[in-house]
Amino acid sequence: MLNDLQQQPADKILALMQMFREDPRTDKVDLGVGVYRDAEGRTPVMRAVKAAERRLVEEQETKAYTGLAGDPAFSAAMRGLILGDSVSADRVAAVATPGGTGAVRQGLELMQYADRAATIWVSTPTWPNHPSIIKYLGVPMKPYRYFDEATRGVDFEGMIEDLKGAKSGDLVLLHGCCHNPTGANLTEEQWQAVADLLESTGAIPFIDIAYQGFGDGLDVDAYGTRLLASRLPELVVAASCSKNFGVYRERTGLLMAIAENPTAKTSAQSTLAFLNRQNYSFPPDHGARVVTMILEDSELRTDWENELEAVREGMLKLRTELASELRQRTNSDRFDFISDHRGMFSRIGASPEQVTQLRDQYGIYMVGDSRMNIAGLNEATVPVLAEAIAKIGV
Ligand code: LMR
Repeated sequence: MLNDLQQQPADKILALMQMFREDPRTDKVDLGVGVYRDAEGRTPVMRAVKAAERRLVEEQETKAYTGLAGDPAFSAAMRGLILGDSVSADRVAAVATPGGTGAVRQGLELMQYADRAATIWVSTPTWPNHPSIIKYLGVPMKPYRYFDEATRGVDFEGMIEDLKGAKSGDLVLLHGCCHNPTGANLTEEQWQAVADLLESTGAIPFIDIAYQGFGDGLDVDAYGTRLLASRLPELVVAASCSKNFGVYRERTGLLMAIAENPTAKTSAQSTLAFLNRQNYSFPPDHGARVVTMILEDSELRTDWENELEAVREGMLKLRTELASELRQRTNSDRFDFISDHRGMFSRIGASPEQVTQLRDQYGIYMVGDSRMNIAGLNEATVPVLAEAIAKIGV
């Protein structure tokens, strides 16, 4: 059996992470994998997470199994954080999952289990693991235009034109905020137009929201998700706590399936629990419990929100500084999009050769499609990056 296996191609983002670790240069700059870094290059455990973990160690009396859907308190707390009061709770089925990737996977499994004929529409480009999992599961997939390489903004006309082709029952994968890898996001008016279109075609949105709080704030970042939840009969939402709670390795995520009515919700809930059972039985609990504690305790929650807000503002400042350094060095405003983009990433428009040059000559690591992680920068490295970009003539 094992003799028949082929070497698998490495995941590009994770391979880059390894390459960076092995690079002996001390002035190297990691703008690859989507992990937050502070000015000292560390990915700290957030204060509220530390406090909740301490409390958990003291108070937790058992590690016996939870339910197949995870702790219902986690689902309820996350439902509130993401959906607010946009939809009534008796329409929302939810299960805890191993991280956001686990939520995406379980959402696709749900789609496949419900309707093998449906197609999922994905933005060009999208997070590379989306098409990878979709292909692995054999779910039919079609692309829709999203990023305009010339303006480095959203090609909204192209997006709408393509999504008119999505049939009733098809799924449309949307990034809730902070589009990965481009950093270009829909405006509120554009979200409304997407809601109108989905309402008229009957296609179902599948939202991946992995960076809530990293763009324009917790509520603004949930605008599109809440709007679609309030207007459409069905919605799938895959959420990650990896970034906004900084619990990457705890694998903490949530899948929500919003059904048309409470009866359909009950069937969706039992199907989600069944799918968890088939894949791994019980989802990881530690990170979910920490997140629940933070969201339910007003003191911890305020502290978490403050720290998250500082992280968000720090990234915005780096965006503004980088755009301004590039304006000076290139004598043009062609990089101003960096300060308009939101979230951890921007795709800066370097060719694959230029990306390699940045790595080889300057020790600056970014993904091959020129996606850079803004959080990998600091005040000292912004001018270094700007100089390198200008020198190689991006
Ligand atoms: C990223 O896009 O860098 C992150 O979501 C990490 C990952 O798993 O790819």
